[in-house]
Amino acid sequence: MLSGHGAKARVLDRLRGAARRLVVGGIGAGALSIQAIAVIGSGLMGRGIAYVSALGGFRTALHDVSPEALERALVQIHKDFDEGINRGKVTTDQAHAALERLVPAASLEAAATDADFVIEAVPEQMALKLQTFARLDALVRPDAVLATNTSALSVTEIAAATKRPDRVVGMHFFNPVPKMKLVEIVRALDTAPETIDATADVAKRMGKETVLVKESPGFITSRINAMIGNEAFYMLQEGVATARDIDTALKLGLNHPMGPFEMIDLVGLDTRLAVLEFLHRTLGEKYRPAPLLVQHVKAGRLGRKVGRGVYEYERESP
Ligand SMILES: NC(=O)c1ccc[n+]([C@@H]2O[C@H](COP(=O)([O-])OP(=O)(O)OC[C@H]3O[C@@H](n4cnc5c(N)ncnc54)[C@H](O)[C@@H]3O)[C@@H](O)[C@H]2O)c1
Repeated sequence: MLSGHGAKARVLDRLRGAARRLVVGGIGAGALSIQAIAVIGSGLMGRGIAYVSALGGFRTALHDVSPEALERALVQIHKDFDEGINRGKVTTDQAHAALERLVPAASLEAAATDADFVIEAVPEQMALKLQTFARLDALVRPDAVLATNTSALSVTEIAAATKRPDRVVGMHFFNPVPKMKLVEIVRALDTAPETIDATADVAKRMGKETVLVKESPGFITSRINAMIGNEAFYMLQEGVATARDIDTALKLGLNHPMGPFEMIDLVGLDTRLAVLEFLHRTLGEKYRPAPLLVQHVKAGRLGRKVGRGVYEYERESP
């Protein structure tokens, strides 16, 4: 089991040793050498990021404020490696080596103190992100990079909670992380070129392709995706077509792998509404959430996670 005390102490020793061996350039002094990554938050995204990080060869510490969530994440990561082996995506040796590199961390301090690169994946609330980044800033080396997996919040605002805005960057992964190829790298106002380079290198070693986005609400993907989903809800509200036919039209006519309603049920209607409200506040009228979407959220039709969204599902086990 990965979560034993002895295992944790051994791994922390390894992480400290790695930190001592590091040769890390300062700003303007060449490339950063990233060996040890800390992932903060072990939910849907954090556990996937920990998976690709460990598989990419990084010593990976995974922390969650909830011990139960951390335990669930470790169980899921083991299952994901089994699935990867069964699908021929990873070898048994690669999976074992990756699991050796992955350690649970009971505290933020234990996870972050010796990390070269931190990826935050706590819930999408600005106050929580600010508090987490302020704490991380006090814990990690001055030249360590702090990345946020926020879907739509301002990375510049998050960076301002630290004394190292040049070392703060957005690193937007997609769900499910082990399968989705893209990482959007988000350049905030003060993000240094070295930080962007280090982030692109980390993503590459995790097997991802990257695109670089200047910070703006919703980046590329969330902005376009929210717009398509909102338009689909307006069409449903106007009675233009059924949800099934709108989904079928986008899949078969426009070659989208999923229909907008299938996608929104997967993402969660509440999550999508929160993104749209943010885009509406920051980018203007064309992002006003469709009243029918608001109504679905009020009715508790939040998507697959509760068994009912635009469509009905068999209740998924927690
Ligand atoms: N779900 C997606 O499809 C998706 C895609 C891209 C980006 N994101 C972003 O990733 C982030 C995480 O989303 P998620 O879907 O994984 O959420 P989640 O709710 O599944 O997981 C969040 C985890 O963070 C933990 N947590 C809460 N406060 C914490 C703290 N102070 N310190 C450490 N851990 C803490 C929670 O216990 C939980 O396990 C959000 O910013 C979200 O917008 C989500």
